[in-house]
Amino acid sequence: MTRGKVTFVGAGPGAPDLITLRGATAIAAADVVVWASSLVHEGVLGHARPGARVLDSAAMSLEQVVELFEQAARQGLLVARVHSGDPTLWGAVAEQLERARDLGLDTEVVPGVSSFTAVAAAVQRELTVPQVAQSVVLTRLEGGKTPMPAGESVRAFAAHQTTMALFLSAARSAQLQEELLAGGYPPQTPCVVGHRVSWEDELILRCRLDELAATMRANKLWKHTLVLVGPALQAGGTRSHLYHPGHFHGHRRADPSARRALRQERGAP
Ligand SMILES: C[S@@+](CC[C@H](N)C(=O)[O-])C[C@H]1O[C@@H](n2cnc3c(N)ncnc32)[C@H](O)[C@@H]1O
Repeated sequence: MTRGKVTFVGAGPGAPDLITLRGATAIAAADVVVWASSLVHEGVLGHARPGARVLDSAAMSLEQVVELFEQAARQGLLVARVHSGDPTLWGAVAEQLERARDLGLDTEVVPGVSSFTAVAAAVQRELTVPQVAQSVVLTRLEGGKTPMPAGESVRAFAAHQTTMALFLSAARSAQLQEELLAGGYPPQTPCVVGHRVSWEDELILRCRLDELAATMRANKLWKHTLVLVGPALQAGGTRSHLYHPGHFHGHRRADPSARRALRQERGAP
């Protein structure tokens, strides 16, 4: 008998064609598909083979998922555990990976398109614009069901004034706005609010930070919503050094005069 296996598959933000080829292949090979109906598009199940057992994890406890894993270990079954976006972000996969390994199952994690990159793609903005923002903070507001570790408050991260992606925080939009402002973002900082991004009823809104809570409240956005904030969302007129004619790397020689100009620009001797 072959060993059972659990593959944790990132389904992407919604649109069924935003899953990776590897993810779709893992679903197609599975005897059992466990998917989260609250955040994963039903269309993703179109990859499952006829006769596969399909179960919705929304109605299941961890213990019930583990029962399935036990069955997979006993019978050598392939399980595709399908999570929204990328499974390594707020996917509760750590505990499932541990249980699966303890049962002697093989495991694999297939990455997915996270909702924060899907929102950036929807508005066609780069999150890491040269000289404006070179870091992206992925976080959530404290006060939900899961306590935040010390030192990880939205207010503390906001002090960096780089790009931030706020997951799981829409239900407390007033607190979110307050914390971001208190941390140091100026009131006019651009925000993008993405609701059910890449689903049929996707809604994308842009506003200033001091209008964030009002915008979210007016549109009744309290779940399935991600907020991007930071100056990169409006920045223009910059260019990266990577494609500068004066920059050289393993695949391209620098143009000598452009290289001199670039060095002068950087203040190099
Ligand atoms: C439990 S977390 C899962 C995150 C997921 N693993 C990811 O990489 O996007 C759920 C949160 O992700 C965000 N989210 C997931 N899918 C989304 C979508 N299609 N549009 C907007 N936000 C989404 C929301 O902030 C939601 O509250």
